[in-house]
Amino acid sequence: MLKRILTGDRPTGPLHLGHYVGSLQNRVRLQHQYDTYILIADVQALTDNFEHPEILGDNLFEVALDYLAVGIDPDKVKIVVQSMVPELAELTIYFLNLVTVATLERNPTVKDEIQQHHFGRKIPVGFWSYPISQAADITIFKAELVPVGEDQLPMIEQAREIVRRFNSLYAKVLIEPKAMLGNVARLPGTDGGAKMSKSLKNCIYLGDPPEMVRKRVMSMFTDPTRIHPTDPGHVEGNPVFTYHDVFNPDKAEVEELKERYRKGKVGDVEVKERLFKALDAFLKPIRERRADYAAKPDRVREIMMEGTRQGRTVAQATMEEVRHAMKLDYKLDRR
Ligand code: TRP
Repeated sequence: MLKRILTGDRPTGPLHLGHYVGSLQNRVRLQHQYDTYILIADVQALTDNFEHPEILGDNLFEVALDYLAVGIDPDKVKIVVQSMVPELAELTIYFLNLVTVATLERNPTVKDEIQQHHFGRKIPVGFWSYPISQAADITIFKAELVPVGEDQLPMIEQAREIVRRFNSLYAKVLIEPKAMLGNVARLPGTDGGAKMSKSLKNCIYLGDPPEMVRKRVMSMFTDPTRIHPTDPGHVEGNPVFTYHDVFNPDKAEVEELKERYRKGKVGDVEVKERLFKALDAFLKPIRERRADYAAKPDRVREIMMEGTRQGRTVAQATMEEVRHAMKLDYKLDRR
């Protein structure tokens, strides 16, 4: 039997280049070597969007389109809608007993997000405990590998801890998952910030039309110490060059631009023009495949339905084992 992959995204908006290099690329690369499940995590997205649940339904479709656009093969990969697998909620409840408040409070990613959301002391319990539900996402599918961006490492660690605790308390039913980081664990935003993130409005989206990509590239932050194109510039930590390194396959061109930039012999505009060209070449086939699927919404819905059905079958089988291990399989109807 093939080993399994489980990973997922919150359907709060379309996916961007950060998702691509952090995780999507690995999913596409490994989809034929692993039995792959991708969760559209609408229940998790609800933890910080519960006042606007309507955005999830709208974005479910967008996220599925992004998967298909980057080359996820719907005949192989199961795209699963989280809220349609209620067994995940059940497993989450059992897992809540296995985690202490102190452990949750130490999760660095959740800490950052609490700051970003300005929750102060008014942290919704659902939000605060989402790493536990994410552990259920991963383990219910018995995934061995979880392709994710760097910010998700604390979630995988939390899942591993829960698995060890569950297996030693009850029975060896669950698998300890391993994280797999992308080549670029954390892509900076167009504003030069540490991370490309929808909430920071510093993204280039996989479905952006060319004019939009151009606009976003042209407004990118570069070297703040450089005022004139004739000033020697810094390449390291300059997001325009970081993107060139990642997305421009013409390495000789990139080296030549870096050399001239360091010497003050090329302006930001030319460097950005060439980046736009490289990015647009990269995004073109993605954009085209996205448009093809967008024109066939029934097919996309069918892919999600079928993926969810298959995912739920796996989840139900795991829950049988979980209840048995926890001695909750009372079989009251047996004479
Ligand atoms: N927390 C992930 C994110 O914000 C989404 C997610 C939900 C996930 N469940 C998952 C990722 C399980 C990996 C495995 O991007």
